[in-house]
Amino acid sequence: MPKLNILVGTMYGGALDVAEQVKPLFEQAGYQVDIAEQPTLEDLTDQGGVTLFCVSTTGSGDFPGNFVPFVRGLRDKSPSLTTLRYGIIALGDSSYGETFCGAGRTLDALLEEYGAVRLGERLEIDAMETFMADDAALPWVEEWIESQQLKVA
Ligand SMILES: Cc1cc2nc3c(=O)[nH]c(=O)nc-3n(C[C@H](O)[C@H](O)[C@H](O)COP(=O)(O)O)c2cc1C
Repeated sequence: MPKLNILVGTMYGGALDVAEQVKPLFEQAGYQVDIAEQPTLEDLTDQGGVTLFCVSTTGSGDFPGNFVPFVRGLRDKSPSLTTLRYGIIALGDSSYGETFCGAGRTLDALLEEYGAVRLGERLEIDAMETFMADDAALPWVEEWIESQQLKVA
């Protein structure tokens, strides 16, 4: 069974909640799903699998504290990620203006820099518009599984 790891960056649990809500959709699609709440580089899914990031933004476009070790690992080790296929769900609040979804956007740029391949577009969930992040995440994941032909079962 192929693996799908969900790497979470969260301050208040919203991004973790999204990860837990979308997990069954990937299980139904045939994946063994693990959620990493304290992610490190070792949590990136092995070759052949897919990694999903659920990352909110704090401070002024900053990464949540639990996600800082992952980003530090990326910047320190500059790994080649050419076999990594990933998706991103970024949580933010457009009332923060220019730093809207800053962490998700920075992460996306970093992964691209190291050669990883994003499948589809990044989902950005705006707390100003969407009260429950799941309401945006669940249909997006369903569509993502379809459009990227991720179903294996
Ligand atoms: C202190 C603080 C700073 C924030 N800074 C930003 C920001 O710079 N950009 C942004 O898009 N959202 C920002 N947000 C909004 C959060 O990203 C948003 O509420 C998100 O849904 C929180 O997700 P979480 O529950 O996973 O931490 C901030 C929220 C707080 C409380």
